[in-house]
Amino acid sequence: MTLPIFRMIDDMQQASQAWQSAGLRVGLVPTMGALHVGHLSLIEALAPYSDKIIVSIFVNPTQFVAGEDLGDYPRQEAQDLSVLAPNVVDAVFIPSNDEMYPQGFATPITPQGVALGLEAAQRPHFFGGVATIVAKLLLQTKANAAVFGEKDYQQLLVIKQLVRDLNIPTQIIAAPIMREKDGLAMSSRNVYLNKDERKIAVQLNIILKALATSTLSPDEASALAHTQLLGAGFTAIDYATLRDAQTLQPITQASPSRRALIAARINNIRLLDNMPCP
Ligand code: PAF
Repeated sequence: MTLPIFRMIDDMQQASQAWQSAGLRVGLVPTMGALHVGHLSLIEALAPYSDKIIVSIFVNPTQFVAGEDLGDYPRQEAQDLSVLAPNVVDAVFIPSNDEMYPQGFATPITPQGVALGLEAAQRPHFFGGVATIVAKLLLQTKANAAVFGEKDYQQLLVIKQLVRDLNIPTQIIAAPIMREKDGLAMSSRNVYLNKDERKIAVQLNIILKALATSTLSPDEASALAHTQLLGAGFTAIDYATLRDAQTLQPITQASPSRRALIAARINNIRLLDNMPCP
């Protein structure tokens, strides 16, 4: 059986509508393509919540600004389709730029709250682009459930906030971080690490664990993590911090749960990791 590919929003909506009229739950895995094992784990995490699974592939220009790697972002449709074909996927949605952002598009979403700070300090445009495209994808696919990885923890919270605030009837499923045997969080950027950088990278998860379990004050723990990262060979640290796990605000005595988050660079390779505090 060949995998149905939808390129037009109307066709995608009709297919989802037909499934839902037959009593089936539709699940969405939004991606920008360049599919790897991490994406397959998202499909697995979504399976219990869906009878039909759609994978969308769209390199969203509004989450990039000039100087970022939009032009270089890998576009490999044939390879992506071959990765998906043998798996439990029922359709692929591959809209064009013009289909997504036709002439006259003028309603971008500008999320606040959990979308401020951390990643947004480096890329202020980023979560606006993500929120806009995810809202469109959820409406276009009529998804009953959609899955996002905890690796991009702030993005996951931004999307939970988006569906709550805009009353989008999609259940958001969080998929756990996939790790290499040595603990390094899987990422498409890991292939850029040379042998020496790979050795440094492995320290990220070790220092993150120490941060998450630290008995120091949040400020002291963060300062220590910065020192440890620089000592390990990281060349720049965007943040190494303990935050309220729901609001991403600095933690207080009242924070019910906490999360440790780090974004650090080895030369021009930016690595992210996070974990809950025990
Ligand atoms: O995480 C990603 O791959 C992208 O930000 C997403 C959610 C597919 C939106 O373009």
